[in-house]
Amino acid sequence: MFSEALDKKANEIIARYPVKRSALLPLLHLVQNEENQITKEGMRYVAKKVGVEMNDVFEVLTFYTMYFTEPIGTHHIQLCRTISCYLRGAEEIREHLEKRLGIKPGQRTADGRFRLSEVECLGSCCTAPMFQINFDYHENLTPEKVDQILDSLP
Ligand code: FES
Repeated sequence: MFSEALDKKANEIIARYPVKRSALLPLLHLVQNEENQITKEGMRYVAKKVGVEMNDVFEVLTFYTMYFTEPIGTHHIQLCRTISCYLRGAEEIREHLEKRLGIKPGQRTADGRFRLSEVECLGSCCTAPMFQINFDYHENLTPEKVDQILDSLP
């Protein structure tokens, strides 16, 4: 079910490690980026590629908070809630996002455009408060800046 290109990339990742099973986490990311979630098929694919049982894959992906077994949504907003961001207004940003999107952290909008998550420090404390949308950082946030960012998204 996965493309040849993805399978090639998976093989490249596996080749970086002395033991196949060490590639489990990056392969889960690879599959999740392709599927916008990790389905049973994705789990089966990863298990087969790294030579472990489905159960091992399930245990790992349910341990970490960055993997999803339901669609993530188009834009995954990960708002930092750790101390620097907290002290510089992360709660106000969360309240603004909740009001604007009509969802709480851990939820996805009904149209599937946005998912909101609260996460721990993303290593950008000097530009707090901040969030990450998919792979992009947005820093020194204010409610007005949040609106501009969300308005600019497809
Ligand atoms: S505390 Fe928010 S990025 Fe470090």
